[in-house]
Amino acid sequence: MVKVLFVCLGNICRSPIAEGVFKDLIQKNGLEDKISCDSAGTAGWHEGQLPDRRAIKIALDHGIALAHKGREITAADLDTFDHIVVMDESNFKDVYELYYKTKHSNPAAEKLFLLRDYDPNVRGIKEVPDPYYGSELDFEEVFHIVQRSNEALLNSLIEKHGWQHQAQ
Ligand code: 4NP
Repeated sequence: MVKVLFVCLGNICRSPIAEGVFKDLIQKNGLEDKISCDSAGTAGWHEGQLPDRRAIKIALDHGIALAHKGREITAADLDTFDHIVVMDESNFKDVYELYYKTKHSNPAAEKLFLLRDYDPNVRGIKEVPDPYYGSELDFEEVFHIVQRSNEALLNSLIEKHGWQHQAQ
């Protein structure tokens, strides 16, 4: 089983959307027995909470129900997950520091990367913008960035592992 962890700051906006979208793609491609995912925040402020209501709404508008409960990333996650996918440079730095603090080896080459490394439409800074202090339009933008990036991420995993999958 390939395990993917999506990480943002609060784990109530971007990463739960990414988790919900990726789970939907996994299911649509019939890959539930090959790949799984979860999400976490670099901060534990929203431990146990459902996603932000605007995140729940934008996902539901696209047919995806979010049921994740907020949690902070742990050192154990660094071992459990094969791919740790962060939303912005600040998340990258925080997870990178967690690796060093917990005496893990350099993660950058093998499993830590920015989601927008996979965005076919990315221009300039490769970050998923934080919508927390923004509007519903910002959540819509996040949803579309996450959707196209996750499709590319899943396709790259399908290709890498030579998985058979159902056509969309
Ligand atoms: P997220 O957004 O990292 O995409 O979940 C945020 C959620 C909460 C806060 C900041 C960003 N906050 O300051 O509580």
